[in-house]
Amino acid sequence: MIETRQTQRLHADESGIAEAARLLRAGKLVALPTETVYGLAADATDGKAVASIYAAKERPSFNPLISHLPDVASARREGLFDAPALALAKAFWPGPLTLIVPVSQACTVSDLARAGLRTVALRVPSHPVAHAVLAAAGRPIAAPSANRSGRVSPTLPEHVLVDLDGRIDAVLDAGPTAIGVESSIVACLGGAPKLLRPGGVPRAALEAAIGRELVSADRAGGAAPISPGLLASHYAPEAAVRLDAEAPRPGEAWLGFGPEPDGHALPSLSFNLSPSGNLAEAAANLFAALRRLDEAGATTIAVAPVPMQGLGEAINNRLGRAAAPR
Ligand code: TXA
Ligand code: MG
Repeated sequence: MIETRQTQRLHADESGIAEAARLLRAGKLVALPTETVYGLAADATDGKAVASIYAAKERPSFNPLISHLPDVASARREGLFDAPALALAKAFWPGPLTLIVPVSQACTVSDLARAGLRTVALRVPSHPVAHAVLAAAGRPIAAPSANRSGRVSPTLPEHVLVDLDGRIDAVLDAGPTAIGVESSIVACLGGAPKLLRPGGVPRAALEAAIGRELVSADRAGGAAPISPGLLASHYAPEAAVRLDAEAPRPGEAWLGFGPEPDGHALPSLSFNLSPSGNLAEAAANLFAALRRLDEAGATTIAVAPVPMQGLGEAINNRLGRAAAPR
């Protein structure tokens, strides 16, 4: 049984931000804007509040959550940072990067938010509204993406409401998110840093900051998935997805990138992620486009190839999962 709640729409002004922080301190659920996607936030130190995130999302409870902090100093109180972790924090916080580090002795993040692990996922977002709420809340705030489990992440408050209206206490509306794909996740656990999820900070920039190559999660080996939320079909739309398509086939919806294919009439269900081939624009449009084509009733979405450089790695990762068998 999912608990029903009256979902308030808060504006991202001074009073909305104060109300969001008050609700969080009271153990309530608030969808917050970040520069990547909207997060479903709760007090990370309060196991009961964290449990209600899993319930609202219908998320398998073995999946650990990211704890959000207003600044590097407060993040460093929760985890142990080795040299690469410090270099990455210095280079990219505040910003679209999550670091997995061992818990500190003083860590206040609840066991449930960490899914019982001795490591903790920490992120200092750069969105000014997120920063203001985190500073006012004065404690780590757990926030997975504010979608129902298995759906694509929300980049608009309207997406949050489609998935979670009546299940959460409030959504803080700051319009569309700028980056549109989730944070890059890097595990810094003493050995070689591992890129667990490509995201808003391109791999090359991360590698430049630590002066070495990042090991990829898929090449990192190990039996159990180190990041359980990275299961293949995590970001599935209802429609089937056909990747690296040269052009749409009859009956398919089309998700383009760059110039449209010559000599093909585009179907009525068609959207171009970036006609000029700009990867940042494509990332910002990706999840809204998948939702739109899905909601319009597409049965198969054919997707144009997207180059692997820069944010292309994160875009291709999310598209690959959207296309995974389920
Ligand atoms: O951009 C983002 O990262 C957004 C915004 C809201 O901050 N959040 C987000 O959270 O994408 P979520 O829960 O959808 O994805 C977090 C990922 C999951 O795949 C989870 O398995 C992994 O982080 N994770 C969390 N803690 C971990 C840990 N201790 N070790 C390994 N993976 C962890
Ligand atoms: Mg998610």
